[in-house]
Amino acid sequence: MSDSIIGAGAIGSGPKRIDGQRKVTGAAPYAADHHPDNVAYGYGVFSTIASGTVAGLDLDAARQSPGVIDIFHHEHFPELHRSPSSMAQGNKVEETRLPFEDNKVYYEGQFVALVVADTFENARAAARKVGVNYKSDQAIANLDQGVTAHGTQKGQGNHERGDAAGNFDGAAHSIDVTYTTPVETHNPMEMHASVASWEGDRLTIFESSQGVVQQQGALAKIFGIPPEHIRVESPFIGSGFGAKLWMWPHAVAASAAAREIGRPVQLVVPRQQMFTTTGHRPETCQRMRLATDENGKLVSLRHESINTTSFTDQYVETCGSVTKSLYSCPNLTVSHETTQVNRGTPTSMRAPGAAPGLFALESAIDEMALEAGVDPLEFRMNNYAERDESLDLDFSSNHIREATERAAEKFGWHDRNPDVGSMRDGHEIIGYGMAACNWEALKRECEARVSLRADGTAYVTCATQDIGTGTYTIIAQTVSDLTGLPIEKITVRLGDTSYPKGPISGGSWTTATTLPAVAAATRKAIEELKGYATSGKGDFADAASDSLTFENGQLTHDGQSVDYVDVLKGQKLASADGHAHTQGADSQYSYRSFGAHFVEVRWDPGISNLRVSRVVSAIDVGRVINSMTARNQVEGAIVMGLGMAHFEATEYDARNGRPVNNNYAEYVVPVHADQPPEVDVILLDYPDLEFNEFGARGIGEIGITGMAAAVANAVYHATGKRIRDLPIFKEKLMENIPAVQSA
Ligand code: MOS
Repeated sequence: MSDSIIGAGAIGSGPKRIDGQRKVTGAAPYAADHHPDNVAYGYGVFSTIASGTVAGLDLDAARQSPGVIDIFHHEHFPELHRSPSSMAQGNKVEETRLPFEDNKVYYEGQFVALVVADTFENARAAARKVGVNYKSDQAIANLDQGVTAHGTQKGQGNHERGDAAGNFDGAAHSIDVTYTTPVETHNPMEMHASVASWEGDRLTIFESSQGVVQQQGALAKIFGIPPEHIRVESPFIGSGFGAKLWMWPHAVAASAAAREIGRPVQLVVPRQQMFTTTGHRPETCQRMRLATDENGKLVSLRHESINTTSFTDQYVETCGSVTKSLYSCPNLTVSHETTQVNRGTPTSMRAPGAAPGLFALESAIDEMALEAGVDPLEFRMNNYAERDESLDLDFSSNHIREATERAAEKFGWHDRNPDVGSMRDGHEIIGYGMAACNWEALKRECEARVSLRADGTAYVTCATQDIGTGTYTIIAQTVSDLTGLPIEKITVRLGDTSYPKGPISGGSWTTATTLPAVAAATRKAIEELKGYATSGKGDFADAASDSLTFENGQLTHDGQSVDYVDVLKGQKLASADGHAHTQGADSQYSYRSFGAHFVEVRWDPGISNLRVSRVVSAIDVGRVINSMTARNQVEGAIVMGLGMAHFEATEYDARNGRPVNNNYAEYVVPVHADQPPEVDVILLDYPDLEFNEFGARGIGEIGITGMAAAVANAVYHATGKRIRDLPIFKEKLMENIPAVQSA
């Protein structure tokens, strides 16, 4: 595969990441790689209780510790303001409480002090000498305790149509089952970090961020200064999965401390506090009630979800977001409630709502199909919605039946023996499971600037980010496609608020949002070029600008062509520039992506070993812009889905709310040894031109949705055990093991 793609072939091809070499050689600067002159280092003191107050601080020993510059806490911290936390205004934060706002403690691992010293080691050593006296209250440690102690609050994203309750009772077949999912912690490789420097009343902050523009807006509100006095830079991040969408307290603490001591401050969030103070996917409890007629057609569907939130903010995990529209059902209710617990504020984690929601929905669909005596694939085919019944809109493009059928074919679903435990290979029992996947397609407002330069290069800027997904590369492909410039001549700069405003790298909307803006800016630059060419001094001085064509770097008029570089050079001009501002999607259609996962598990009952041995997924995400990075996104999401299915859970001590496996050793994520030998991703590649000119709907999140259910359904097929509580730890399969028959 060539890395030098020119012209119209650029979109849809699979060039390698243009930032890849810098990243693997260590040349790409991450937030904590910045050590400005005279920088000081902060280290937090974190609460060791989950609920109560700080009654007193003993700072004497810490103050005398080597290199200490200052120690901040609730009685020694500048007066700041809260951000209104509005995404529309561009200042969203998930935890609205400011660090050191008062002496209250809402969760274990909350900042209670910040030591600043001349080196990282000195700051950390001194932080450990800070004595904290707490007045501790009984912590609300989990969802059950929250509901028991003070019930629930109503959430958003609820929906009701028809009469779900009335059509449940007399139905031919029905199920009423409850699923739970644990807290998951994002655990990106790169730790959260801020490096803040002030020059007068101007702040520059390097941050590991999925959203520099939102952070700039939030800091402006918090410090009460104009946004243009704040520069947030995040050119490279070691992933985020949602944890880095919105600014967390450490960035406020670092910025305030830097201003107070008159020196830059670097603050890295320790791995343990990435389990407490930078968000997590909340715990959920989801009751599913489904009913069908005698033919297995859904007549009633209720999805009621409760998730944990913090005492400072309400975060709603919209588990029923997909349930509203994936299946056709006239009588349907989706409701979300929250319950407050002593944990930090939750946040979006890859496919928020849909990932835990589709564990429940797609497990329940499997249970419902078996109850109704229908093959789970056939059940879905019979019940998939033709249009979005929740919005009363047509889908812009929906190929879920083809996705399901193609994946089924490739996987060999039709050879499955449906009897539980019936498929054996030596001492292993094989299980086949499937699930649908689904994610909303979104497109936001965006600006971008493109310069076509006289040296034959292009320079593109946009204040969005590349979080490892390939944004740099697909933007270069877009400019290459429109200008004919080879990709290596195109410089893309992202992750800096001094560039034109771009979107957060989230919601799977970066591609659909940024590419139209970059294309519009490129076209404007080309228009400017044509203007120069047809001006008095130009090569086509007599021609009308719109009679010129531009292709592969050549301006052509009446069969005569001139290289655009010569047009600029001829007039001693540096560049032709375009700046564009594009809008979000309209609401003419329901824009969604679709797909299906097929999973083979192998269970060895003798040693209760479970492994996922094969995955085939077919995904309909509209047009694929870069076949390599798109496939990587789905593969990565499948791996993360396997983590959700049988490894990941942040566990809390029920007595005191303390996260107990808050480290990379005991919070288990899938590693190489856990990968299925075969992961086959089919990308359907039907352009969704109702959505945007590129037909791309975005691909970052959909791959994780449905994965845990596909695994759970395969586990049921192999073992006869229906695991409704994630993760599917092997020990949950150890009871009542059916006798292994010799082959
Ligand atoms: Mo994604 S959870 O919007 O980073």
